[in-house]
Amino acid sequence: MSHPIAVFVSGTGRHLENFVRLALAGELDARVSLVLCDRAEAGAIERAQKYGLQPVTLLPADFENSEAFSRAAFDAAREAGAETILLAGFLRLLHIPADWTGRVLNIHPSLLPAFGGKGYYGHHVHEAVLQRGCTISGCTVHYVDQEYDHGRILVQRTVPVLQVDTPEDLATRVFDEELIAFPEALRLHMQALPAAHGAEKTSG
Ligand code: GRF
Repeated sequence: MSHPIAVFVSGTGRHLENFVRLALAGELDARVSLVLCDRAEAGAIERAQKYGLQPVTLLPADFENSEAFSRAAFDAAREAGAETILLAGFLRLLHIPADWTGRVLNIHPSLLPAFGGKGYYGHHVHEAVLQRGCTISGCTVHYVDQEYDHGRILVQRTVPVLQVDTPEDLATRVFDEELIAFPEALRLHMQALPAAHGAEKTSG
């Protein structure tokens, strides 16, 4: 049976679409059981609807604090029966409950631990990479812990940085690799999961 994933988004939802397409094409043994969005105007909402998915929108302003927001987000994932959460352009720091440790993956558009942490998102990352004069950049998929861009790394892919690059050029080149890296990381994560319930006992 395909692996139920929740995809959390704040932006345009290009990764969400990539996961849906790969699953529909039979190239990824997963199905989207929840799309959760934290911005009412996010492009990801319309993109999800195109595929018959109705996102759950949770607005941070409706919650007392970030802990309460996180609790509601993880409750929604549990209710939807999701087993893994993918943060796909989701910009909010989540408080990961114990039962979700090792089950939340994030993609970041740099080679972590460089250019990660608070404030490093979207074009800010690529501008900083160019300003520093890096000759390579790339993307990282990692497990999420309680710190921004911090947990154990699953997949990294690199790209060259050209002297003539604008931040947009670099973002485009990195994003092409992101579309490969995130599904690859999900496949590795799924392979590493313990055998499904009801697996035969080998002793006793
Ligand atoms: C990507 O650059 C990713 O690394 C970052 O958000 C961007 C994707 O957003 N975390 P989206 O899929 O277009 O919403």
